[in-house]
Amino acid sequence: TDTTTTFPEGFLWGGATAANQLEGAYDEDGKGLSIQDVMPKGIMAPPVEGPTPDNLKQVGIDFYHRYAEDIALFAEMGFTVFRFSIAWSRIFPNGDEETPNEEGLAFYDRVLDELEKHGIEPLVTISHYETPLHLARTYNGWASRELIGFYERFARTLFERYGSRVKYWLTFNEINSVLHAPFMSGAIATPPEQLSKQDLYQAIHHELVASALVTKMAHEMVPGAQVGCMILAMPTYPLTPDPEDVLAAKEAEHANYAFGDIHCRGEYPGYLLRTLREAGVELDITDEDHEILRNTVDFVSFSYYSSLCETADPAKRTEGGGNIFGGVQNPVLKASEWGWTIDPVGLRIVLNDYWERWQKPLFIVENGLGAVDELVEVDGIETVVDDYRIDYLNDHLVQVREAIADGVDLLGYTSWGCIDLVSASTAELKKRYGFIYVDRDNDGNGTLERYRKKSFDWYRDVIASNGANL
Ligand code: BG6
Repeated sequence: TDTTTTFPEGFLWGGATAANQLEGAYDEDGKGLSIQDVMPKGIMAPPVEGPTPDNLKQVGIDFYHRYAEDIALFAEMGFTVFRFSIAWSRIFPNGDEETPNEEGLAFYDRVLDELEKHGIEPLVTISHYETPLHLARTYNGWASRELIGFYERFARTLFERYGSRVKYWLTFNEINSVLHAPFMSGAIATPPEQLSKQDLYQAIHHELVASALVTKMAHEMVPGAQVGCMILAMPTYPLTPDPEDVLAAKEAEHANYAFGDIHCRGEYPGYLLRTLREAGVELDITDEDHEILRNTVDFVSFSYYSSLCETADPAKRTEGGGNIFGGVQNPVLKASEWGWTIDPVGLRIVLNDYWERWQKPLFIVENGLGAVDELVEVDGIETVVDDYRIDYLNDHLVQVREAIADGVDLLGYTSWGCIDLVSASTAELKKRYGFIYVDRDNDGNGTLERYRKKSFDWYRDVIASNGANL
């Protein structure tokens, strides 16, 4: 490894969260329901009719009331950036109102006040898996073109209100995840097994147009705005050197690259047009849409947890695949307790691939290990001895340093779930990512007290040394 290269001056270090996974207060101060309020089991079961008390997101970790204490803890670790999302249904409870909910707006003023107090740069995700439920039920989410207008109004409201205080904006969390989770990601109420490719890709088109439109608007309204797309990064390796496997891996990567290509180049790539053509999909793309798509992003952000493996040989497809997002098991890599392949080198590969492909600054806005933690007493202090998490993060950050040595332009790193929160895919609290332990379990029991884990001190030292101690 190249230990002579250091992280650049001003590199942004911090953590990442999403409103629906930590705020709680799901119906307070005029907040409307979001799709998350009918997803008590995450993506592991179909949505239910209405809110149910077994939904851990109703309380989350009560960040809505404890944000000041939590941000102070982030400051103690030395965060220079904090990624959070704005719950759309706090601002527009149904999503299609003309005027915003003032109490919702005021909450994020208070959050920004705290961040400012500690000199922490906000990084705001406009839409993170929490579309107002009404937009899913009445319009079928992003399958409807009308969503573009509602999203535009939502974003305009945010830029007007927070534009002088927030420079970094992300349009849609993991925009490509709509391929796998159309309800959570795209608020598309049609059950996945009934959703046609036609409707899915039309929905994707609407999101892409909305993303470009809002990028344009940010550039006009927000001084010094930096707008990024956000992609779920899944580098995909061929299972063998058989060219057919290499091609299968490339095609799997194309499915995800398409989102970045459109955000960075402002037009549909040829391989996607071919896929659509062969699937008999004919998209409704207006002349104006083509114009709007030309408003490309300033940077590319992504989440990275694991790599995938692909083969062209159907006989090699094992039951369950290699990951929740498909592929086959990689025979040389181990996986987390939740079956997510652990691959630090994959992060270096992604950073190089994205940089070579788009030549735009990159931002790692999610990375981390979901694991079961145990609160223990060490020298009279309650903590979690999470060496496994330290190892995971250290190994990944070493590869980040390698990529920087390779010449990759990287703005920052925000590890996922810097404080324990409700998981997105399985909607549980047992799967913890944080540097800060929150006393609340899968049954909703616990004091909600916060405790510093061993990784808390480790990350503080990483930030203080700007990565020199990795
Ligand atoms: C990403 C999401 O997919 O991964 C987050 O943007 C999510 O919302 C994170 O929490 C980790 O996934 P999970 O299912 O372990 O929470």
